[in-house]
Amino acid sequence: MRYKNLVLVTFMMALVVSQLENCKVFGASHYDHSHKNTTTKILQSSGFIQRKDTHFFLNGKPYYFNGFNAYWLMNIASDPSTNSKVTIALQEASQHGLNVARTWAFHDGGYNALQISPGSYNENVFKGLDFVISAAGENGIRLILTLVNNWKDDGGKTQYVQWARERGQLVKSENDFFTHPVIKQYYKNHVKTVLTRKNTVTGLAYKDDPTIFAWELMNEPRSRSIDKGKSIQDWVKEMAVYVKSIDRNHLLEVGLEGFYGESTPQKKQFNPSYESEGTDFISNNQFPEIDFTTIHLYSDQWLAHANETTKDVFINKWVEAHVEDSNDVLRKPILISEFGKSSKSSGYNLIKRNIYFEKLYNFIFNSASKGGACAGGLFWQLLSPGMDNFRDGYEVIFQESPSTANIIAQQSKKMSNLK
Ligand SMILES: *[C@@H]1O[C@H](CO)[C@@H](O)[C@H](O)[C@H]1NC(C)=O
Ligand SMILES: *[C@@H]1O[C@H](CO)[C@@H](O)[C@H](O)[C@H]1NC(C)=O
Repeated sequence: MRYKNLVLVTFMMALVVSQLENCKVFGASHYDHSHKNTTTKILQSSGFIQRKDTHFFLNGKPYYFNGFNAYWLMNIASDPSTNSKVTIALQEASQHGLNVARTWAFHDGGYNALQISPGSYNENVFKGLDFVISAAGENGIRLILTLVNNWKDDGGKTQYVQWARERGQLVKSENDFFTHPVIKQYYKNHVKTVLTRKNTVTGLAYKDDPTIFAWELMNEPRSRSIDKGKSIQDWVKEMAVYVKSIDRNHLLEVGLEGFYGESTPQKKQFNPSYESEGTDFISNNQFPEIDFTTIHLYSDQWLAHANETTKDVFINKWVEAHVEDSNDVLRKPILISEFGKSSKSSGYNLIKRNIYFEKLYNFIFNSASKGGACAGGLFWQLLSPGMDNFRDGYEVIFQESPSTANIIAQQSKKMSNLK
């Protein structure tokens, strides 16, 4: 999902003043961690999620998910005047039975960056991520942590390319993100820094923390290189091997939207357009280091000019084809890791959103209950109350739409009863 980074900047800038005023009071560490070691660490004693063939397991039993996206957790957690939003979001999510959240473990350059410049980190923002992981664990929520963005929101590919250029590297275009040796090394350094980070709240290294469900190489990798998908294919292989060389505890996925590519030309008919965006759902996911597959689903955006019938047909085929391929060809579980309905889409109303959520939830549940590869869905995106600057049309705020909240809670119950 692309979103407007500006929103975050505006929101955070408004808080700068209060943050400065609070500095003295909070001192070097912004959180009161004193109670944390006495809190039951629900997830830290419960083992890592594992994968065998097309299913996830926890302590030998099949495990299913119902989850959400909240890319904003780390940045909001790093500011003492807003970090209660993170606690509230995770508590409310837990109350609705949600057991996985996907969020960013990057913010490259710009205001309130995690990685200020290659290899240089803002400790305060890192403490925000520490807090997110600790709070997620306390609420029984596992995390998918994304390591970089394809889009320029929060830095991403654009920032990495710019860093290399500023240091005298010849970089022709953003597509070189996937091939330039210096940029690949920047990315690897970030991976290593995050995976080996010792959490200042829990004392656990991220790579040893069962609260983390999986690493995601990149949010929605895409390339316009005319190399028939070679650059992303090679990048995924190199980076997947690298992640696993540091961390064999956690599962790993690519972050793909799901476009079919050159290895299966007959399947390009399922793509929203004939474009593969330099990716290949089958070959990118085939590496043994990649533990499960993902798809995103934005029919209103991808098929902006189509009628509802055409969109419905697309949705059914898109989900069916990927679940089938994950099951039969790749032999790995699949998560629908982003889906949502925007209030900005034409003809929107809350009932339509609820019907849409129910449709996808039913599909997921039916696959899972028949032993299929689909193990869960993550809606885009959860907000806490009072985060109006983060509204992107897709936001779910439980208090604001109890009917949606109820559908989400029902799905959580159905999925967890599958165990
Ligand atoms: C909390 O526990 C961790 C390890 O379990 C330890 O490293 C840390 O010092 C403890 N913190 C406090 C405040 O006791
Ligand atoms: C929707 O669009 C498709 C493809 O353009 C067309 O075949 C179909 O008749 C349309 N359906 C309606 C109800 O307008």
